[in-house]
Amino acid sequence: MPAPESLLLDSDLSPHPALDAAWWRQAVVYQVYPRSFADSDGDGLGDIPGVTSRVGYLAELGIDAIWLSPFYPSALADGGYDVDDYRDVAPELGTLTDFDALVGAAHAVGIKIIVDIVPNHSSNRHAWFTEALASAPGSAARARYVFRDGTGPDGSLPPSDWTSHFGGPAWTRLVDADGNPEQWYLHLFAPEQPDFDWSNPEVHEEFLTTLRFWADRGVDGYRVDVAHALAKDLSEPLRSKPETPGELPLDGSDPLFDRDEVHEIYAEWRAVFDEYDPPRTAVAEAFSAPERRALYARPTGLGQAFNFDLLKADFDAAQFREVVEFCLAQAATVGSSSTWVLSNHDVVRHASRYGLPAGTDLDDWLLKDGLETLLDEEQGLRRARAAALFMFALPGSAYLYQGEELGLQEVADLPASVLQDPIWLRTLNTKKGRDGARVPLPWTAEGQTYGFGSGASWLPQPAAWSRTAVDRQAGVEGSTLELYRHALRIRHELQTEETLGWVETGRADVVHFVRPNGWHCVTNFGAEPYALPDGVVRVASAPVEGGRLPGESSAWLTA
Ligand code: GLC
Repeated sequence: MPAPESLLLDSDLSPHPALDAAWWRQAVVYQVYPRSFADSDGDGLGDIPGVTSRVGYLAELGIDAIWLSPFYPSALADGGYDVDDYRDVAPELGTLTDFDALVGAAHAVGIKIIVDIVPNHSSNRHAWFTEALASAPGSAARARYVFRDGTGPDGSLPPSDWTSHFGGPAWTRLVDADGNPEQWYLHLFAPEQPDFDWSNPEVHEEFLTTLRFWADRGVDGYRVDVAHALAKDLSEPLRSKPETPGELPLDGSDPLFDRDEVHEIYAEWRAVFDEYDPPRTAVAEAFSAPERRALYARPTGLGQAFNFDLLKADFDAAQFREVVEFCLAQAATVGSSSTWVLSNHDVVRHASRYGLPAGTDLDDWLLKDGLETLLDEEQGLRRARAAALFMFALPGSAYLYQGEELGLQEVADLPASVLQDPIWLRTLNTKKGRDGARVPLPWTAEGQTYGFGSGASWLPQPAAWSRTAVDRQAGVEGSTLELYRHALRIRHELQTEETLGWVETGRADVVHFVRPNGWHCVTNFGAEPYALPDGVVRVASAPVEGGRLPGESSAWLTA
């Protein structure tokens, strides 16, 4: 699908291009973590007007869509994934009018907006949960969530042995106004994130209303949080999870995750998406057996699903190729396009992952402030640049995480006193969590927060970020920012049908593929330079001299 002409130009702020219902199939989607992107009012938190002020930057980067992580009212028990009100903007981040202005500014330069929908749980400050707490066991208000009596002689044991993703039990016991213990409620994440009961039609209606609310305001699509967990088997007695954590069954028989019934919910959502012209799009964050992932990506469902296979792979030729073959084949089974992700707000930034010895325990590395296992930042960045070109050349959609275009490293040495991720507390300080990937962006080499805002930032930025700031890289040949800009610009020019062919290289550490229009991508995962085939090098992640592609780099070639 060729991109609209208006996207090919560096800084042309031309009107919204003709809407194309299939825009998402090979889009470059840029994830904005709003609190860490740009702070317009100096309160230390990034905000919606901050994003709007950088739409020009994003247009110049060459992205097709912005995915906004939650910006809804929230007490931030889980970085905003604890939503108080699904149909408003957090006051500290702006207003609905600011949101409309962002949509308008983005659309004006041909950039789509995707919002994050968090349907598995609300926050404990949501009006429904407050009402449930004030209502009696068995009441309609409680039936929107999962309340149960405890087990054991006096109900002092949780209703099941389910555990929270953030550590500890997935159940919390209530205490009534007189201090007497009461029922328990389910939360697969933090206690501040009570799970909805999706067998309740009211919950369905509520989310359909929310989807329409944002679509009516002009959003183009949704990223669906924890999409695999909505339909649960809550029949008594509650069943234990299978013994093999991390592996989900192929038959959908897990009591909590990836159950077949979940797709009935997404069929309802699809009907809402299709009320709009063009139909709204969605991408599932779904954890399932890899073979079942495509079920979420059916055209009758959400349409697309994340796969984190590339993100989980080592920087290794065989692993990368295997991931690509598998994911393309999976997406094709349902007529969707594949997604590709190297980083997001939940993982250690890939420029750092790639600079650590393969197999490094990342939680342990973070816990030791990055001091015990040596990070080779140069190698990490070299590989990150190579992986980016590899990813952008693939058929399907690339999801970028803010700051990766600057080659940002994880901030491994955040002091315990500033950590906000619930993982830190819930694991009793044995895992630092994800804050190191959420440190506010550096826009300028100078200034207290490197141009993020005029006040102290909510997480401290490392001094080294002065060197990676946007203004240090913009216009500088060979910088990571210019590499991304150039690659994304010509990616539009060269975009073609969603297939590729492998070209044998005679080297186990070099991967070469070609797209149907004769656009080649060669990635050298090894250390030895590789003699490139004939062709014009359109972009390379490291200087190509004498037709030789250096180790740990990628190049795109055309005839
Ligand atoms: C998703 C989000 C993550 C959040 C969790 C609970 O995995 O990406 O940040 O903590 O859901 O909502």
